[in-house]
Amino acid sequence: MTTMIETSAAARRSAELEELIHLRPADFRVLTGDRPTGPLHLGHYFGTLHNRVRLQHLGVELLVIIADYQVLTDRDIADRLGQHVHNLVLDYLAAGIDPQRATIFTHSAVAALNQLLLPFLSLVSMSELARNPTVKDEIAHSQQSAVSGLMFTYPAHQAADILFCKANLVPVGQDQLPHLELTRTIARRFNDRYGALLPEPDALLSPAPLLLGTDGTKMSKSRGNAIMLSATPDETARLIRGAKTDSQRHISYDPQARPEVSSLVLLAALCTGQDPHDLAEGIGSGGAATLKRTVTEAVNEHLAPMRARRAAFAADPGQLRGILRDGNERANTLAETTLNEVRSAMGTRY
Ligand code: TRP
Repeated sequence: MTTMIETSAAARRSAELEELIHLRPADFRVLTGDRPTGPLHLGHYFGTLHNRVRLQHLGVELLVIIADYQVLTDRDIADRLGQHVHNLVLDYLAAGIDPQRATIFTHSAVAALNQLLLPFLSLVSMSELARNPTVKDEIAHSQQSAVSGLMFTYPAHQAADILFCKANLVPVGQDQLPHLELTRTIARRFNDRYGALLPEPDALLSPAPLLLGTDGTKMSKSRGNAIMLSATPDETARLIRGAKTDSQRHISYDPQARPEVSSLVLLAALCTGQDPHDLAEGIGSGGAATLKRTVTEAVNEHLAPMRARRAAFAADPGQLRGILRDGNERANTLAETTLNEVRSAMGTRY
C-alpha cells in the first residue's frame, strides 16, 4: 500500500516536472545510466533511451553513467567489460544521444565520485540499506552463494553517481525509486550536518510501455527473446517471424486477454507513432502474418537511422574512445569540485 501511495506521489511530481522542463530546460541537469552487462534492446529504447533523447532535445543537460562497478553487485566477475562498455556507448550514440552535448562516462574512471561513497555511507543506517526493496529483490534473484557488501551499499554509491554532479533530475523506472529516496535522504542529512551543499534530486518517472519479448514473457537479453538495437534487419525479421501469437485470427489490442499479440501491436505502434487500437483495427482480419509483416517493417524502418549512426561511429573506434575519454575528463572535473566542497564542509581539507 505504501508503495502505491509513494508511486502516485512520484507520478504527480513527475507531471509537474514535465511542465517545468518545458518552461525552463536549462534549469535541469539530468543524470541517468546503465549497468554495462550487454547490448540494449527495444525494451530499453522505449523504456529509457528514447526519453533521454527527448530530454536532450528539449535542452536539458544530460550526463550518462556507465555503472561498471555496479555490475559486481550480483556476480563474482564482470565479464567482458571492455566490450560491453564499447557497445553501450554505441547504443547511446545510435539512439541519438549527442556526444557534443552529453557527458558519457564510467564509474571506475572517476575517483572523486567513488570517494564520496565514504562520507555518504556514514549518513545511512544498516537497516535502511537492508530494507531497500529493489536490493532485496536482486538478492532473491542473485546467482551468488553469498551476498556481497556491494549489494547492500550500491544504492549509496548510486547517490554518489547522482550527487557528484549535483544533478537535480533522474529519469527512472519504478524499481529505482527506493534508490532515489535514499539519495534524497543522503543529501538532506549531509546538508543538515555540514551545511547546505547538495541538491535533493527529483525522480522523473517516464511512462514505460511494457514490451514483451517474442516469446510473450518480459523482454530480456538473457531469455533470447529480445530485439537488440544492434540487430540486423534480417535478424529482426527472423525474430519477429518466430514470435508467439495466439489462435484468434482477428487482430485486436487487448494487453490483458491477448498479451503476445498486443505486445506486437504495441511495438509497431510505438515505432510508427500510432495509437495501438487504431493499428490493430487496421490489420483486423489480416491475421498474425499481416501483423508480423507490419511489425517487421515498422521496427526496421524505425531502427534504420539508428543503424546508420551506429555504423558511422563503429567505423571510427578512435573517435568512440575519444568520446568516452572526454566524458570521463568532464566527470572528473565535476567530481573533484564537489569532493572539495564536501571536504571543506566536513573540515577535512588540511
Ligand atoms: N541502477 C541502475 C540500473 O540498474 C543503473 C544506475 C547506476 C543508475 N547509477 C545510476 C541509474 C544513477 C540512475 C542514476 O539500471
